Amino acid sequence: MGKVRKGEVNMLWSGKEVAQAMLLEARQAISENSAKQGRAPKLAIVVIGTDPASQVYIRNKLRSCDKVGILNETIALEPTVSEAELLNVIKQLNADKTVDGILVQLPLPKHINVQIVQAAISTDKDVDGFKAEHMGACWLNAPGLRPCTPAGIMRLLDYYNYDLTGKNVLIIGRSNIVAKPLAAMLLAKNATVTIAHSKTKNLFELSQNMDLIVTSVGKANFLPQTAIKAGVSLVDVGINRTAEGKLVGDIDHACYELAENYTPVPGGVGPLTVAQLIVNAVQAWLEH
Ligand code: GUN
Repeated sequence: MGKVRKGEVNMLWSGKEVAQAMLLEARQAISENSAKQGRAPKLAIVVIGTDPASQVYIRNKLRSCDKVGILNETIALEPTVSEAELLNVIKQLNADKTVDGILVQLPLPKHINVQIVQAAISTDKDVDGFKAEHMGACWLNAPGLRPCTPAGIMRLLDYYNYDLTGKNVLIIGRSNIVAKPLAAMLLAKNATVTIAHSKTKNLFELSQNMDLIVTSVGKANFLPQTAIKAGVSLVDVGINRTAEGKLVGDIDHACYELAENYTPVPGGVGPLTVAQLIVNAVQAWLEH
């Protein structure tokens, strides 16, 4: 690698390294507070069906729970489960005083209304930070549990001392779980934020003017080298499987040659999401 460009040599932003630091902090917080709390933290994960990607995410989440000392329970439901049955499971978990965090793995089957399900989770146990209350707090820059992927990205930028003040940041994607809360968090750090999506005109011209680009698209090699300027920083939220079965992000690897910083896939944003979930579960436990 190494083309002429502004700034430093292209530097890998290792989500894996930052996640390890986050997990270490979580483990310390648990051992320091267990006596005071009188019990270990506990996370309940509800998963519906056998979506392979969800199974991988859940396995990683459970492994991290075990690493730091968070008790966990997985409730696996059939894809035919009714919304009422799911709401009943959530009701029981809400009432269980040994459960600090409830995570309902997305995506849900089409016959279940995600907003109704999220609203049913006790706010103090919403470790995903997806409830309207948490999303509102995020936009107000008020305290509260934050959605894991964007909060993990903010930790990454902080870890590598990336100053967002006055930076032009492009988020490609408009999801509730990544793009919207990330925009709020970047704004709170004085960035100028643009959210682009599938209807955005001249996206690859817009992307030329950016200091930082975050892609959350879900298409392998979506962002080509011709769409970026030298010295840009890149954060890739995408996790896509190629026809050959290889895991790749949304950003074409040729972009790395021009980038000042970039997150790899795997080993970038994925581990940060999991680590932030652990951090959120510890936060919920400390507040219980
Ligand atoms: N599916 C993909 N990412 C997430 C996440 O962060 N939380 C939940 N609950 N489901 C997801």
